[in-house]
Amino acid sequence: MCGIVGYVGPRDCTDVLISALTKLEYRGYDSAGIAVFENGKIEVAKSKGRLTDLVKKMEKEGKPNGHAGIGHTRWATHGEPSDINSHPHSGRRVTIVHNGIIENYKELKQFLIDNERTEFLSDTDTEVVAQLLDFYYEGNPIRCIRRVLHELRGSFALGIVFADRPETVYAVRCESPLIVGQGKGEAFIASDVPAILKYTKDYYLLEYGEIAVLKNGSVTFCDFHGRMVEKVLKTADWDEDSAEKGGYPHYMIKEIHEQPTAVKTTITPRIENGMPNLSECGITPETLRDINNIFIVACGTAMHAGMVGKYVIEKLARTSVTVDIASEFRYRDPLIGENDLVIIISQSGETADSKAVLNLVRETKAKSLAVVNVKGSSIARDADMVIYTHAGPEIAVASTKAYMVQLAVMYLLAFEIAYAKGKIDEKECRELIAGLQNIPEVIDKTIDAVVDECQYISTKLITADSLLYIGRGLDYALSMEGSLKLKEISYIHSESYAAGELKHGTISLVEDGMPVIAVATQNTLLEKTVSNIKEVKARGAMTIVICDEYTEIDEDAADYLIRVPKISEVLMPMVATVPMQLLAYYTAVNKGNDVDKPRNLAKSVTVE
Ligand code: AGP
Repeated sequence: MCGIVGYVGPRDCTDVLISALTKLEYRGYDSAGIAVFENGKIEVAKSKGRLTDLVKKMEKEGKPNGHAGIGHTRWATHGEPSDINSHPHSGRRVTIVHNGIIENYKELKQFLIDNERTEFLSDTDTEVVAQLLDFYYEGNPIRCIRRVLHELRGSFALGIVFADRPETVYAVRCESPLIVGQGKGEAFIASDVPAILKYTKDYYLLEYGEIAVLKNGSVTFCDFHGRMVEKVLKTADWDEDSAEKGGYPHYMIKEIHEQPTAVKTTITPRIENGMPNLSECGITPETLRDINNIFIVACGTAMHAGMVGKYVIEKLARTSVTVDIASEFRYRDPLIGENDLVIIISQSGETADSKAVLNLVRETKAKSLAVVNVKGSSIARDADMVIYTHAGPEIAVASTKAYMVQLAVMYLLAFEIAYAKGKIDEKECRELIAGLQNIPEVIDKTIDAVVDECQYISTKLITADSLLYIGRGLDYALSMEGSLKLKEISYIHSESYAAGELKHGTISLVEDGMPVIAVATQNTLLEKTVSNIKEVKARGAMTIVICDEYTEIDEDAADYLIRVPKISEVLMPMVATVPMQLLAYYTAVNKGNDVDKPRNLAKSVTVE
């Protein structure tokens, strides 16, 4: 949820920390702070609000000046966003930044109070950790960190500086992600790789319980028991440009435009001679043939990709698929059988609830398959099999290209399972694959075809207090994502409904002028969907219909029509997604909202 960074090297530390934090602001943005060694003393600057507020504050009050330090951008969990609750937090001799959550902080705080440590300034769990480190500190930082690790429960990554160890940064990881960058004569810590790409592409992935020591521009590692660890240096295949806006006003619109490339990069290595081939991901037709039931478990947008997956896999492979929200699945004692497959979809690969599902699967004889975008992330490493989506870094909080490639993977899987189980023949499989290969080009065409219309229609949406998204079948699965996209960045209340379910209660909400966006790309269900559109229209709704270029929609059903290119019905979600993304984007822009950093949200949800 929060982003942490650290630096040791010859550059101006404050500049490096701020630059790195800018790349992590998507993780949390309600306050920010840094701690830098200046002439051997730790100087702290922090502020409620965006990173720019911290920068302004330092311009006014002076910035810490030095070559080693730590920084933080916050998504509040314990304690409201305020100057006091902003990180870094300090004990007498220790200052820390923290990403994650300390579940037993109350007990630990009581322990400290009982031991006459009463000087707590903030409401945060982090300050308790800083005080605890201070309590146990006897001049050996590693021993002190290891001692405190035994006491902490929860998921966390910490950046730590000790007042009597100038020019040195310590870092430790337990669950929450942390990487250690290695440049020439300089070293970094960061919650995510894009933060350091400006300086280096070489990094180490810190594992659970490992401690890193950054000193004199280089890094050493030890484990939970204090034993030295040799780690393998990795090289990021994302470059700095892919984590920049590249001339677009927002990351979100840039990422919408990157979708054709993302889909192509994701599917190409998994297609061989016109047939799906997932063997590089450890998946063979034999693995898939015997699958009994499939569970798809994820959160938010990723879960919505799973909904599309369910419709497609069930339709083509005739295999039962249950889609669950991870935070529900993990606590509902699901019945997972020996030959079942649990698919976890996650862009970040760090979502706490989705990650927890893997522990559950491990207790069964079922297999787990992760569909993940971030390489080396926890979910990718913990699953039995992984299909990486190759979307590149997704920075906007509102997911677009990651969703699109998750869809692409759902299709590849559906085709492969259906073929492995003999539910489709080779000819049909080849046709489906050819259709998928055509998608990047069609997405490009769709963006061009609908962008003006979406921009215009969004001006009609900005005054709405509430709206509905409706659809049937795959259109319903898709409308869930359309609705989430719109509400999370435009702040307009929105619900998605199975069109046929409206009359069972929800239609009572429809009143004069209420926007209802109907997705009607499934020709087999068209007549029924159109009847539902007419029902809301008759009650005063302003109807916006997304359909293909040839579908005839009665004039009296649609106030606005958004026409997308026609492709095979089963693949239509990959095309119809585009106008939904653009409607959300332009509505948020027209409302003057911060599109890439919507209020109260964070890109990576690493707490329950
Ligand atoms: C969607 O725009 C959101 N950012 C959110 O719903 C997101 O998809 C969800 O938190 C899951 O994240 P993950 O894919 O990284 O697991």
